[in-house]
Amino acid sequence: MARKIVAGNWKMNKTVNEGVQLVEDLKNELAKVDASDVTVVVSPPYVNLSEAVKAAGGSAVNVSAQNVHQEASGAYTGEISAEMLKSVGVGYVIIGHSERREYFGENSTDIAKKVDAVLAQGLTPIYCCGEVKEERESGQQNKIVGGQIEAELFHLSAEDFAKVVIAYEPVWAIGTGLTASPDQAQDMHAFIRSCVTEQYGEGIANETPILYGGSCKPSNAAEIFGKKDVDGGLIGGASLKAEDFIGIITAFN
Ligand code: 13P
Repeated sequence: MARKIVAGNWKMNKTVNEGVQLVEDLKNELAKVDASDVTVVVSPPYVNLSEAVKAAGGSAVNVSAQNVHQEASGAYTGEISAEMLKSVGVGYVIIGHSERREYFGENSTDIAKKVDAVLAQGLTPIYCCGEVKEERESGQQNKIVGGQIEAELFHLSAEDFAKVVIAYEPVWAIGTGLTASPDQAQDMHAFIRSCVTEQYGEGIANETPILYGGSCKPSNAAEIFGKKDVDGGLIGGASLKAEDFIGIITAFN
């Protein structure tokens, strides 16, 4: 069985102080519930990472970055390397989010290299894939997502692949209030796991956490997380308030 993970992606929200407060609120909420079998992750903006790591210190809250540059160092104004992220104490890095693909032109070559850069520093990639609305409407979602993971992850050795967390985020469900139905999520997660099985074998496939992301809320998380191949969620809007986020963290049956 893959481990359960609920990761919050704060996107471009929260100042440093607001971020510290959110981590403190989350720690307080977590102390009231039994969620010891769930890995909890928050992903603040870059400038908040150091303070978030300090605030999370000694608690069950793990800290992730939202992006990374693929090169180790050099003349890349405005960019941040995996080694820099490691140096502030983050453990996870979101890679290939659809907003990075759409607004910042990230392509499969960049994303594959980012995965390598993160793994080389001993950090855990939270790798995002997902189809856009037109691709879903024309029934191409498996071809699209299968193609993404093949081009961006399947160059990895089995040993490295076993460290990757996958997040399936149908682009049409992100921030739109539209969620994939639990069955649509299950179908895609089972498909992704079958691709991983073919490439790396059943043992690794069964241990790979596959998270769902896209308008996940306390009110719909239990139904989605109840599906066999859904191991948790990557949460945007509902991760910005501790009480909503805790409602999702505790949604596993
Ligand atoms: P929402 O939960 O706001 O739809 O965002 C999902 C997402 O993009 C998480 O990375």
